[in-house]
Amino acid sequence: MTSRGRTRKTIESKRWLARLQKVESPDVTYVSDTFPIMMKKARGMRITDMDGNSYLDFTACFGVMALGHGNPLLQRAMRAQSAKLVHGMGDVHPTASKVLLLELLARISPYDSAKSVLSLSGGEAMESALKTAMVVTGRHQFASFSGGYHGLHFGPLALSDRNTFTRGFEPWLEGKNHVIPFPLTRSEMSLGCEELDEKFYQNTHALPHWDTVLEKLEDVLRGRKIAAVVMEPLQGRGGERTWPSGFISQVEKLAHQFGTMLIFDEIYTGLGRTGSLFASDHEGVVPDLLVLGKALGGGLPLSACVGECLDAWGKSTGEARHTSTFLGHPLACAVGHAAVSEIIRRLPEFKRELLHVEKSFGKFFEAYAAADLHKRIPIQLRGRGFMRGIWFPTTNPGFAAQVSEQLLELGFITLPSGPRGDVLSFTPPLIARGKDFDLVLKALLQVLAK
Ligand SMILES: Cc1ncc(COP(=O)(O)O)c(C=O)c1O
Repeated sequence: MTSRGRTRKTIESKRWLARLQKVESPDVTYVSDTFPIMMKKARGMRITDMDGNSYLDFTACFGVMALGHGNPLLQRAMRAQSAKLVHGMGDVHPTASKVLLLELLARISPYDSAKSVLSLSGGEAMESALKTAMVVTGRHQFASFSGGYHGLHFGPLALSDRNTFTRGFEPWLEGKNHVIPFPLTRSEMSLGCEELDEKFYQNTHALPHWDTVLEKLEDVLRGRKIAAVVMEPLQGRGGERTWPSGFISQVEKLAHQFGTMLIFDEIYTGLGRTGSLFASDHEGVVPDLLVLGKALGGGLPLSACVGECLDAWGKSTGEARHTSTFLGHPLACAVGHAAVSEIIRRLPEFKRELLHVEKSFGKFFEAYAAADLHKRIPIQLRGRGFMRGIWFPTTNPGFAAQVSEQLLELGFITLPSGPRGDVLSFTPPLIARGKDFDLVLKALLQVLAK
């Protein structure tokens, strides 16, 4: 049944999926009897598929549609810019829309005089950040944390320790990065997670305590070959994982002690997702480079690497050392400018609604305990703001993916996260209301009770 109470029809979607499978590389779209939907149109929180079924979107399509689908203000910006100029000339003849976006990024960034390099996807912006760190420090290796996800371009791929992504490319990636274990939080330990981690997180090298983690990081940094430590201030695809309080500032201190830069990948967490403009605001740590993407373009492909050290690249002599055909794409910059301005304007409203979202999770956990479900399947709430996850620590790998597929049948689009697919993630548009969460959590209770 969909959330409108009809049985889900799939005939038209299946027809299109069959056509897709004939022409798309088979590694791209996962297709089963019941998955995925074929998206046709969307408005606000609601997505409609090719068969007319309607779903509430708790993914914001990978965190991109922060202002909801079909936002009229962004559509106006899109129409106005496309009537003037769609594509420009990246690093040659610039456009006003690029200047306006760069100025806005400089204003909202945590720096006094920020400069940026623009790109299209998160992975590309990470490449800009990694190259910048090499240019600034003259070093060529990196350190990242287990569970981190920074994109699949060759630069950020080297930071990954998930062999789902690195399989077949290892010789190319070798020696470029050091993976530091993610420190366990106190609440994870309280769930007996040390044991669980050994059993389940072998591939991600998780170690129980942050002292051990910091020692390992110091060992790696001591060689003074590390250009930058790269981290998400809240791990997204790693399972909505927050760092133990105070840990990030310890990382900053250590990195700077050894002349290493700190890069925050805020591609997922940035621009309001966690309830503040940047997730790093919660930590009181300013990175040397800030990387943005996803919500930045308001639905158009746009990303940025922002910092105060971009002058290290030197002045272009006519052949930029790092650029691309679509850099500073006028349409993306115009829509991105409108999106970021609107997110900032509405952030207080989004933050207020988070109180209702918290209440909604509170009610869910009470009902879960009252139904005695926690004895069968222990769960824990993770994340912050509009980036939440329900962690199933003791279930089989892929459990959250199964739950997510059942929620789809009930009319809710969610995604699994975590290295074992053991977290059900909720990253809806920031316009999501407490009552939207009430609906999806009620459906989740129904699924888990089964
Ligand atoms: C934290 C983080 N960094 C980087 C990326 C890669 O971005 P893209 O898929 O746009 O290359 C993602 C994508 O999910 C991400 O969540």
